[in-house]
Amino acid sequence: MVSILKNPILRTPETHMETTMEIHVPDIGDFKSVDVIEVLVKPGDSVAAEQSLITVESDKATMEIPSPQAGIVRELRVKSGDKVSEGSLILLLELANAAGTPATPASAPAAGAAQANPSGATGASGAPATTAVAATAAAPAATAVAALPAAAQGTAPGSAPAASAAVSAPAPAPAPASAATGLPHASPSVRKFARELGVDLGRVSGTGPKGRIVQEDVQSFVKAELVRASAGNRAESSAPGGSVGGLSLLPWPKVDFARFGPIDVQPLSRIKKISGANLARNWVVIPHVTNNDEADITELEAFRVELNRENAKSGPKLTLLAFIVKACVAALKRYPDFNASLDGESLVYKRYYHIGFAADTPNGLVVPVIRDADRKGIFEIAEETATLSAKARDGKLGGADMQGGTFSISSLGGIGGTSFTPIINAPEVAILGVSKSVTRPQWDGTAFQPRLMLPLSLSYDHRVIDGAAGARFNAYLTQVLADMRRTLL
Ligand code: COA
Repeated sequence: MVSILKNPILRTPETHMETTMEIHVPDIGDFKSVDVIEVLVKPGDSVAAEQSLITVESDKATMEIPSPQAGIVRELRVKSGDKVSEGSLILLLELANAAGTPATPASAPAAGAAQANPSGATGASGAPATTAVAATAAAPAATAVAALPAAAQGTAPGSAPAASAAVSAPAPAPAPASAATGLPHASPSVRKFARELGVDLGRVSGTGPKGRIVQEDVQSFVKAELVRASAGNRAESSAPGGSVGGLSLLPWPKVDFARFGPIDVQPLSRIKKISGANLARNWVVIPHVTNNDEADITELEAFRVELNRENAKSGPKLTLLAFIVKACVAALKRYPDFNASLDGESLVYKRYYHIGFAADTPNGLVVPVIRDADRKGIFEIAEETATLSAKARDGKLGGADMQGGTFSISSLGGIGGTSFTPIINAPEVAILGVSKSVTRPQWDGTAFQPRLMLPLSLSYDHRVIDGAAGARFNAYLTQVLADMRRTLL
């Protein structure tokens, strides 16, 4: 949610001229210490009443803090990355005069003027140095390329062609910058959307009123960059010795759904937007292969039920997931390629075993990580899984809870299904999908026996792992789950 706060605190300090006001962070509800993620003005800028000054973000919401009055920004007292609370000083504002015209930048302190206009060309009296500010807003090519979405940049290992194609691509004509802020015209939610995708709005053409950038413009920009990167790859691949690959994407279909019946429109949750961008990149960049196998967990399930009965009063409930984590660690130790990451043309082998597991939450998918799973017992893993799942559902996972994973598990077994293709969680190179166990007849050489069979779908990065290795890993996993004593080996 992006909201614009009303009534920032405004004070006239004794130490300043009568027309210079301190603008403070207003009441922002329960949030005590929130991040400043964007400073929208500079010293010397002329701002209108209600114009946004800074954007702050908590883990739940993004808020813009507007100026309560028109005037000229004299001194900034916050920068991006600072933490602020109610009452924190944002900036000093020289108020517009009584006639309602803004104060002139001619009286701006030298430092402020120099910052707003590095060329030294100050604006004429009464006209803020907007030319200089707008020039600052036109991001240099290097900045713009660095800010491309990961999908377009191909930041995942082995995707250099996409990145180089993007670098050489000519930038489209950008939307006009706001005269007051030097930032491209866009609403807070569009700016936030662009930030999440890593898009530099300075390179996006606006199709909204007065050249305003709308969400569709950002989406079109990303698609155009992908197509451009793809065209670059095709050109390279047709040259002798050139690389092969790339995508040729059609524009996203634009349909007026309301023409066909009633509709409701809901913005995507923050988690869905972030995970969606990551999933799309991983799916496009990584050549996935999924190997399907089945583990006979008849004995394991009996053991799990027995342990749960014994520990019904004291220990945490043991779910199958805890055993699967332990079995995966055994397989990762035997096949270290699966616990590695691509780094350019090298493989980084990790000698720690941090296992992520996909957790379904009301706001979308998150992947908390059980650290050092090799050093933990089944009960400890079960307890940690339960704690992390509860935190995930309550939206209380911290960044550290989701970092450093070396291999992931996506268990849909509690829900259903016979197999699926889990998407690899880059920079990891493999992920295990678990479907619902079912009792089925198995031939033991002389007769059919009812056995509890667990479907395992292992997706792996084919640049790192060969098909035979994928099949071996999954086959070994089935052996371990069939007889957990193998984890002792
Ligand atoms: N086969 C059959 N039953 C299974 C099973 C399997 N493979 N895995 C779990 N179950 C059973 C459990 O035993 C439990 O039954 P019980 O209550 O009778 O004991 C029930 O299903 C619910 O299990 P759950 O609460 O889901 O625990 P879990 O440890 O298996 O899973 C999470 C925990 C966090 C992984 C799970 O809640 C979750 O979020 N799964 C969705 C992951 C996801 O969205 N993946 C998609 C990514 S693209």
